[in-house]
Amino acid sequence: MRLSIILDFWLILRIIFLIFLIILGIFFFIVFILLRVIRRYYKFPIPGFLTRLIDNPIRRKLIQKPEKVADRMELEPGMVIVEIGPGKGSYTKELAKRVLPDGRVYAIDIQESVINWLKRRIKKENITNIIPKIDDAYNLSFEDGSVDRVLAIACLPEIPEPVKVLKELKRVLKLDGIVSLSELIPDPDYPRRKTEKTWAEEAGFELYKQFRNWFVYQLNFKKKN
Ligand SMILES: C[S@@+](CC[C@H](N)C(=O)[O-])C[C@H]1O[C@@H](n2cnc3c(N)ncnc32)[C@H](O)[C@@H]1O
Repeated sequence: MRLSIILDFWLILRIIFLIFLIILGIFFFIVFILLRVIRRYYKFPIPGFLTRLIDNPIRRKLIQKPEKVADRMELEPGMVIVEIGPGKGSYTKELAKRVLPDGRVYAIDIQESVINWLKRRIKKENITNIIPKIDDAYNLSFEDGSVDRVLAIACLPEIPEPVKVLKELKRVLKLDGIVSLSELIPDPDYPRRKTEKTWAEEAGFELYKQFRNWFVYQLNFKKKN
């Protein structure tokens, strides 16, 4: 009787473990194979609610800390920053803090839902130096040479013509400005570092600094002389 209870227990444990492995397998298949194949041939802006989902505590605390991303951008008070595709605004907020008292961050996106959500957030949190605005990275509404820093996290590879965007960033950037691009492996659009460097070089940038581990990288580019 006792032996049969123990055997049943082990059987149940093995079944639970098997179910866990199957779920994990399906998850990895979807994220690392299926979505990548789909995104390779079919690019579209990911819906606003998903941009908020990927900005989660695990990512912010363990994988891609906003403080670390900002530390690498050589920020100073008074700077003008553009962030493309700000999502929920966690990175935007960190940048905005660093350029106080008179610097500002323009958080731009083509999706109205992303911008409206961010507007509500900054109003609620009483942040005055973040300016969310609908704008297209292909054709930005900024003057030539007017921006100190640009940040795009998990964003550029989602846009069908990244080199065209980078050329536009070169136009709005000041002479000593920095474009900072950061990517993380679970993103179905994740490009290899080499690919992103090639895009930037094609647009007239050169690699200035890079930071990386096996999971995430951040590349800082400056205009080529
Ligand atoms: C993956 S989300 C960004 C996620 C966010 N940076 C993060 O790390 O949590 C990419 C964003 O880029 C925006 N986007 C796509 N094409 C764009 C374009 N041409 N101009 C401006 N934003 C664009 C999308 O609307 C989307 O909100």
